[in-house]
Amino acid sequence: MGEVAVEVKPPDDVEADVLALPAREDGGGAFAHRTPLLDERLTRLLQRLAEDGELRGELGKTLVLHADGDGKARRVAAAGIGRIGELDSDALRTAAASVARATEEVGGTLAWMLDDTLPLPLDEQARAVVEGVLLGSYRPGRWKTGAEEPRPLERIVLCAADDGPLAEVAAQAARVSRWVSWARDLANSPPNELTPAGLATQAAALELANLRTEALDPKRIDELGMGALSAVGRASANGPRLVVLYYEPSQPARTDLTLGLVGKAITFDAGGISLKPALKMEDMKGDMAGGAAVLAGTAAIADLGLPIRVVTVLAAAENLVSGESFRPGDILRAANGKTIEITNTDAEGRLVLADALWYSRGEGATHILDIATLTGAMEFALGDLYGGLFANDDAWRDELLAAGKRSGDHVWPFPLHRRYRRYVDSDYADMKNSSDLQQASPALAAEFLREFSGEGPWAHLDMSGPGFLERSRGDYLTQRGGTGYGVRLIVELARALTR
Ligand code: BES
Ligand code: MN
Ligand code: ZN
Repeated sequence: MGEVAVEVKPPDDVEADVLALPAREDGGGAFAHRTPLLDERLTRLLQRLAEDGELRGELGKTLVLHADGDGKARRVAAAGIGRIGELDSDALRTAAASVARATEEVGGTLAWMLDDTLPLPLDEQARAVVEGVLLGSYRPGRWKTGAEEPRPLERIVLCAADDGPLAEVAAQAARVSRWVSWARDLANSPPNELTPAGLATQAAALELANLRTEALDPKRIDELGMGALSAVGRASANGPRLVVLYYEPSQPARTDLTLGLVGKAITFDAGGISLKPALKMEDMKGDMAGGAAVLAGTAAIADLGLPIRVVTVLAAAENLVSGESFRPGDILRAANGKTIEITNTDAEGRLVLADALWYSRGEGATHILDIATLTGAMEFALGDLYGGLFANDDAWRDELLAAGKRSGDHVWPFPLHRRYRRYVDSDYADMKNSSDLQQASPALAAEFLREFSGEGPWAHLDMSGPGFLERSRGDYLTQRGGTGYGVRLIVELARALTR
């Protein structure tokens, strides 16, 4: 998708290929706003459609009608927003995405009538509509040859009287959405293309003010004693990288704070010697979605110029099988000196994160958030909608839960407890990386990570469910594959930390 321009304009000044009007379910598909475009003919048509039960305002249902040539919009889209009592930003994103898809062959300019009679502030409506349109029209088929491109979407116009602050909100939403789409592209990239080194190249190619990137190669990883990251990456000809980004704005709002973002970036997870079953193994190209989230989230922060220091670490490796593989029974030494007995090579995410968390603290992170597709059980627990959050600090947890609520990247709290530590007690080493008890594997993994999180607030977000979809979620994320989960959350977190 090319760059889509975003504008705010007064309703009677709008020229568009499509004008979308939010239609309410508990008004039988009625619109609150009348526009000159709804002449007698269109109004009668809409009435008949409502009577026939074809226009009901059901959430996510869009009806497109052609207007007569003399109006300023060629088409009107009745965008079902559902029941007003259930309206939230996600509902508007869903409605906007539905309009974008229903009119994807039209492209050009899509106008959306903001509605000040809805129980959602206009700025939240603006943000949700922009995100819904841009994320809803995302297409994952970049690798298809000769695919007919429909006429691209060029412009989103939000119709509202006041254009000052709304225009800025909308413009920022569009920028953030572009970084979300980039994270989706990364997660959807095939693992033969997006190797650990490939990820480092993508990071290095970012050209944003006050942002600097480094990538530690296998030799450097070994020199630093990162025995866990090194072991996981050893079987692959595409060796591991520790990708590190530093965002240092000249005037941070808080000098006592450096946000540490840490992402699991397993570019492909075959499970290693503890090999995964073949079915759906291809989806394990998305096991770097946490890394993509922190990378794109950092880029978004820099792009918006938010006044907060950030250090971001991606633990990138490919978990394969070869004569060089690490094995069950191996005992590794992580960079913080602790020893780990390997009981399952498929529990590799916690291993690479162990060394990345340690590095993040060493580089000055005071408040850490790690994001990872860590456990299958988290997807069982929360499905594709929520990520599960663990934290060693109540205030930090609350900060993240609040950012989740504001962003649309949904987060639900889970318990950390010292008495889960026994799950990773080893007879031979300081800890083991998995347990044969079929219990609480997300909490076990979090307890494991805690050992490497150092001093200070740290939170772990297990995004196994919402990070990579097997099928449409039925809302504004209708495409299989990467979702960009975490990018908007990181932006909201950073915004809160600068206030
Ligand atoms: N990347 C997987 C977790 C995963 C599975 C994420 C399915 C998304 C969808 C992770 O590396 C893994 O294999 N976890 C194992 C750990 C187990 C071997 C202790 C799991 O959760 O089954
Ligand atoms: Mn695994
Ligand atoms: Zn994994």
